[in-house]
Amino acid sequence: MTTTELTPVLTRTWDQERSWTLATYEAKAEGYQALRKALSMEPDAVLGAVKDSNIRGRGGAGFPTGLKWSFMAPPDGGPRYIVVNADESEPGTCKDIPLMMAAPHHLIEGLAIATHAVQGELGFIYLRGEVVHVYRRLLRAVEEARAAGYLGDNAMGTGKRIDIVVHAGAGAYICGEETALLDSLEGRRGQPRLKPPFPGAQGLYARPTSVNNVESIASVPGILLHGPEWFKGMGTEKSAGHGIFSVSGHVTSPGQFEAPFGITMRELIELCGGMRDGRRLKFWTPGGSSTPIFTEEHLDVPLDFDSVAAAGSMLGTRALQVFDETVSVVRVVSRWTDFYRHESCGKCTPCREGTWWLKQIMERLEVGQGHEGDIEKLLDICDNVLGRSFCALGDAATTPISSAIKHFREEFEAGMHTPWYHLFPPEASTLF
Ligand code: NAI
Ligand code: SF4
Repeated sequence: MTTTELTPVLTRTWDQERSWTLATYEAKAEGYQALRKALSMEPDAVLGAVKDSNIRGRGGAGFPTGLKWSFMAPPDGGPRYIVVNADESEPGTCKDIPLMMAAPHHLIEGLAIATHAVQGELGFIYLRGEVVHVYRRLLRAVEEARAAGYLGDNAMGTGKRIDIVVHAGAGAYICGEETALLDSLEGRRGQPRLKPPFPGAQGLYARPTSVNNVESIASVPGILLHGPEWFKGMGTEKSAGHGIFSVSGHVTSPGQFEAPFGITMRELIELCGGMRDGRRLKFWTPGGSSTPIFTEEHLDVPLDFDSVAAAGSMLGTRALQVFDETVSVVRVVSRWTDFYRHESCGKCTPCREGTWWLKQIMERLEVGQGHEGDIEKLLDICDNVLGRSFCALGDAATTPISSAIKHFREEFEAGMHTPWYHLFPPEASTLF
């Protein structure tokens, strides 16, 4: 058995009856006490506490949250916004949506505190369009907080206006890119904007804005209530705190595990009850499909931002997808490539054309009809997309391909003549 300690903070009420209600949040999770404390403090002191906690963005890039807020242009009397990126769409990522379903008040309280910290009045939650059930849950939770006097024109009786707008997008992966998200929120077609200016200088409606992941904002009440030192007491020196690790795929009991940063994949697989049917691990993703894949040799890499980067990948969204020996890596990567081709917004040529060509080649390798030189062609296209695209989506499309070729080149070579289903009979596979 593992000795790993879980650190349930955001997940601690998920198994309670009606965990999503204000009553449960108040009774079991010290609900809205952190907001009361924050509103009694100067905004700069609240921001200082978040900065001191060293929390890094939980959406994938790991940028320090407090620093991002402090980059916002100085107050000039006009609106300033915190926008929550709740467009969770990275393949394999399933932490923000469960969090909003099971305990939406963590996010709502966190957003109210963050809005106060940046001297704003209105916060936005931009939600992935397909999850209508989450949209309803958030709307209901915001209503509950307003009815209790926590939000509104006189938040907690302080005379200060703090309110929240929940907006559902239309289901485009690119709208998770922060500037495309802002365009979409303004009612335009969601496509990335040129940076700089960063949103901190000119964001929503050209006003100072900070775009933050759901889990980052939901972690703020805990930091305020228990202090930055409490938060830094978990995790590693450069990746402080707790995080939700979503494990999916070929493990016995997949799910979300809230643990300190620095936990390893070996420990998480143990927490999941081991590999399903006693099969052997083949490969896994540390941060969804947008990060280079890992294999058995990486099972003991501490899952913190720097250790994963040093081992050649990215922690990203902590979307840990596990694949066993029955799976064709070519087929999996081909699925992901099709996803990026479909979701490419078309604004820039390397990504728009490159993802299309990558898909053509992956598709023929998948069915055993690859051409001589296809592997080199794939790597050459990856080279011409990576670092030459307008936003991170183009880069993301290339990393699973190049890393899969690095670890499993022989499977790509087999794709010249043998279809995936001859190498990995579907009846043996537990995935496809
Ligand atoms: P990024 O590194 O470009 O930016 C991170 C944040 O820091 C942004 O908010 C940016 O505005 C801010 N920033 C960076 N440099 C700045 C500067 N000089 N001044 C002011 N602000 C600055 O990363 P990006 O493109 O926001 O996110 C990419 C990540 O998102 C990837 O690591 C990927 O893992 C993750 N991702 C997450 C998804 C999800 O569903 N949660 C989906 C797809 C990708
Ligand atoms: Fe659009 Fe892809 Fe270019 Fe990003 S990299 S702007 S998604 S075409």
